[in-house]
Amino acid sequence: MADQPGDKPFESVEEVINRFGEHGYIADRRLATTVYLQSRLDKPLLLEGPAGVGKTELAKSLAEVTGRKLLRLQCYEGQDESKALYEWDYGKQLLYTQMLRDKIGEIIADAPDLATAIDRIGAQDSVFFSDRFLAARPLLEAIRGEQPAVLLVDEVDRADEALEAVLLECLAEFQVSVPEVGTYTASTPPHVVLTSNNTRDLSAALKRRCLHLFLDYPDHDRELEIVRSKRTGLPEHLAEQLVSVVRQLRTLKLRKAPSISETIDWARTLAVLGADDLGPDVLSETVNVVVKYERDLHQALDVIGHMADPNRDVPEQLPTHGHGHGHGHGHDHGHGHDHDGLDGKEVRAAKDQPGRHDEAYYGAPGSSSSAQRSTGGQGHRAFSSVTRRKS
Ligand SMILES: Nc1ncnc2c1ncn2[C@@H]1O[C@H](COP(=O)(O)OP(=O)(O)O)[C@@H](O)[C@H]1O
Ligand SMILES: [Mg+2]
Repeated sequence: MADQPGDKPFESVEEVINRFGEHGYIADRRLATTVYLQSRLDKPLLLEGPAGVGKTELAKSLAEVTGRKLLRLQCYEGQDESKALYEWDYGKQLLYTQMLRDKIGEIIADAPDLATAIDRIGAQDSVFFSDRFLAARPLLEAIRGEQPAVLLVDEVDRADEALEAVLLECLAEFQVSVPEVGTYTASTPPHVVLTSNNTRDLSAALKRRCLHLFLDYPDHDRELEIVRSKRTGLPEHLAEQLVSVVRQLRTLKLRKAPSISETIDWARTLAVLGADDLGPDVLSETVNVVVKYERDLHQALDVIGHMADPNRDVPEQLPTHGHGHGHGHGHDHGHGHDHDGLDGKEVRAAKDQPGRHDEAYYGAPGSSSSAQRSTGGQGHRAFSSVTRRKS
């Protein structure tokens, strides 16, 4: 797999850090080590953590850095496996049947009765349940695609357990079985990145299968480096103060703690306003960029009002986001399953951000299964035990 075109593997952890850095993703050593191991061990990488800490971005950057194609399965409640694996392209089947009406007529022309006619049509249906009419969804696409891929299974905690089981099956062997056609096996295993915002616990089996990494808010220096790398236009000393302020806000019990993207937005806002110091006034006037619930806003204003000295020390130790505590949306630090009375659905809704469905999302125009050579599945009728390996 190492020498595939469009796949530049990593030689060391340092190389991971450097190459990600070149693409604007600031990885710390722990993260880089996990990415390095993932690429070496061909194991899926499971990233858990609050919203906005760079989980999705990591997968996107991995695709950019390695030159692999990004395939994204965005999970949602009630999603069924046909949206993850494959569907039969019903419209195309219908179109072909209509265009071939005369040919089909010939086949059944001299059938003495209906049962014989149906049998004859039935004998042909492998033609219609073949590779040609298969609409591959991200999991199948990642496995049978010609090009090495990064498969991002985003927000897997939103999916139902049934889909999680399908995922497990697929990830265990990097195989997908289509009963009518056969089994597809990846010639180059995709780099798989699963993300979870922890709205529910994932199955132990899935966790066992994956390299697991808890991605938390970065420490002060790394967040500052991220802000710097985004060239927000905010002078260095103000960016430094701003990161401290955001970190203080994160220690509050907010419904939605400010994420890295919000720090970046705030920096841009202050740069546009031409702020030359970060006094309580300018912070209060702009804090709505990062705090988006009214109740949170009151708490934030209260703290900002008390920030007489924006340079005062901030504890480096943030509340931990221990595993399995059902938080993940950054407001209930260390408070177990307390979602302020919200159920999972509301918690998830609260995390919805625009831009989650970008161009790599499989439903987007141009992102559908690319021209896949038909390999002549004809004759392999449904439910036969044909096993076809991708060469
Ligand atoms: N390590 C990082 N380096 C550079 N930018 C980052 C990093 N982590 C987060 N970001 C920024 O934060 C934004 C939100 O990250 P995202 O991956 O969408 O969060 P998540 O998927 O964890 O909710 C990204 O678009 C990116 O601009
Ligand atoms: Mg995300």
